[in-house]
Amino acid sequence: MYRIAVIPGDGTGPEVIREGLKVLEAVSTLAGFSLDVTTYDLGGERYKRTAEILPDSVLAELRQFDAIYLGAIGHPEVRPGILEKGLLLRLRFELDQYINLRPVKLFPGVETPLKDKGPDDIDFVVVRENTEGLYAGAGGTLRRGTADEVAVQESINTRKGVERCLRYAFEFTRKRNKRNKLTLCGKTNVLTYAFDLWERVFHELGGREYPDIACDYVHVDAAVMWMVKNPEWFDVIVTDNMFGDIITDLGAIIQGGMGIAAGGNINPQGVSMFEPIGGSAPKYTGLNVVNPLAAICAAALMLGTLGEPAAAARIENAVQTVCASHLQSLAAGKMGYSTSEVGDLVIRYL
Ligand code: IPM
Ligand code: MN
Repeated sequence: MYRIAVIPGDGTGPEVIREGLKVLEAVSTLAGFSLDVTTYDLGGERYKRTAEILPDSVLAELRQFDAIYLGAIGHPEVRPGILEKGLLLRLRFELDQYINLRPVKLFPGVETPLKDKGPDDIDFVVVRENTEGLYAGAGGTLRRGTADEVAVQESINTRKGVERCLRYAFEFTRKRNKRNKLTLCGKTNVLTYAFDLWERVFHELGGREYPDIACDYVHVDAAVMWMVKNPEWFDVIVTDNMFGDIITDLGAIIQGGMGIAAGGNINPQGVSMFEPIGGSAPKYTGLNVVNPLAAICAAALMLGTLGEPAAAARIENAVQTVCASHLQSLAAGKMGYSTSEVGDLVIRYL
């Protein structure tokens, strides 16, 4: 039995999480394990009602679960940054989920904006560092609001933080065993302190401990170009927090959009958290039209990480069948099915 904390969150989060839980329930029965689900009311509505974002007592409870399943964070009536930093980023940092794992895989039958590219070409994984870099919150402001204003936002890169991320990426590449190639995505020609550290540790580890993995390097500006022109060159990409944030939105759109893109915030020794990478989509809230497949794929990632790879594969295969033989589009309102019907279809093919 696995104990799962569920944070449906804001906007369409609850609608897609409902489908994910339906699928998890069904697959657990088939695969012979069970889930003990506890739901937490966190997000914009609670903040508006009580001014609470993430009470310490709730955080302490969340540390006790096997995994966290998150819908979406972001509310149109709450100033940007409050919930993102106070809830999503705080959870990532406090639970030391130092990896953000984002598979970019185009399923058969899914439309990609890349001309002449198909499922054989678009199949890589981004390993994004998730606790440091520009996200660490270092910096400050001076003389704010005056003509002499200064704003400094610093990227924090620690030897330990960089090394554990790179090590995870090497291990992941080895375990994936697809092309056994790991690409470091950085900017060594300009960010000569931060990516000097990344590059040194990358080659140190690669040469010493992972001779079976081909080490490759790409500047981030070139990386986005190659992701469009030759996505088949990539197997696993490892990068810092900010670059990882940016390139995974491009990754999401080439695999069919936010309707299908999922990710995991992973602490390999602790509690990990899984989420569709799209936002709360306020304009679609309550209409039963958004695509739940991203949330369902996040559930599959969660089962894979919990040690149920067969159940995870069942979900992924079912999602592939639904994409290939049912959905007209992956976009909200254009699927040819409602949110809950798509959940039902996935269950049919488990
Ligand atoms: C993501 C999101 C978050 C990030 C925001 C909501 C803080 O864009 O998960 O990619 O920047 O990490
Ligand atoms: Mn993002």
